[in-house]
Amino acid sequence: MKDLVLAITGASGSAYAIRLLQVLIEAGRQVHLVISPAGEQVLQHELGLSIDPRRFSIDQLLPTTAQETDSQPGQVAFHDYRDFSAGIASGSFRTDGMVICPCSMGTLAAVSQGLSQNLIQRAADVHLKERRKLVVVPRETPLGSIQLSNMKILADAGVVILPAMPGFYNQPQSINDLVDFVVSRICDQLGVPQDLTKRWGKPKN
Ligand SMILES: Cc1cc2nc3c(=O)[nH]c(=O)nc-3n(C[C@H](O)[C@H](O)[C@H](O)COP(=O)(O)O)c2cc1C
Repeated sequence: MKDLVLAITGASGSAYAIRLLQVLIEAGRQVHLVISPAGEQVLQHELGLSIDPRRFSIDQLLPTTAQETDSQPGQVAFHDYRDFSAGIASGSFRTDGMVICPCSMGTLAAVSQGLSQNLIQRAADVHLKERRKLVVVPRETPLGSIQLSNMKILADAGVVILPAMPGFYNQPQSINDLVDFVVSRICDQLGVPQDLTKRWGKPKN
């Protein structure tokens, strides 16, 4: 099973993270999941999901779809955001990439400066130093010059900046369509096969 890191931070857009988690599970990926305290707060606020980091179970994140999204035992490994002894804190632990979705401006700034003050920031730093795929999905509007500078620093370091900016050219009919638009772009970057949206120039299957 290919390992991917999914970090959820405290920007708006928890729905992107939950849908992404679902798609990664369905694609058979091993997911290393880390959620910041602010990420937990936003999950609760936007989706009514309560996480207990000490007794994490996948049902806390995928309650309504648990039957449809059959994860294998151990397919989602939850790591406490302070646990620097987790495998993903080390470059010797191989992964196929990492995504921070959604990515707050705070985490974006910390990663751009290499602060490594929690497991999310450390794992991102590791992906950078190991020259592995790192995708960040920032959400903020409008953007200030410091935030834009931080994005430029990351883009120059090889990070894929994939803002949560759904396109409307597929004539979305629902919020789910808008969410799937962004999630499909993330999966394309991570090399995860999916058919969530119609591709421009191709008929939808
Ligand atoms: C409901 C809610 C929505 C938020 N939305 C955003 C947002 O869209 N973008 C952002 O950068 N911060 C947002 N914040 C603020 C961050 O959560 C805050 O800056 C936090 O320190 C980020 O911490 P983290 O990066 O460790 O998750 C939001 C906070 C709350 C409670």
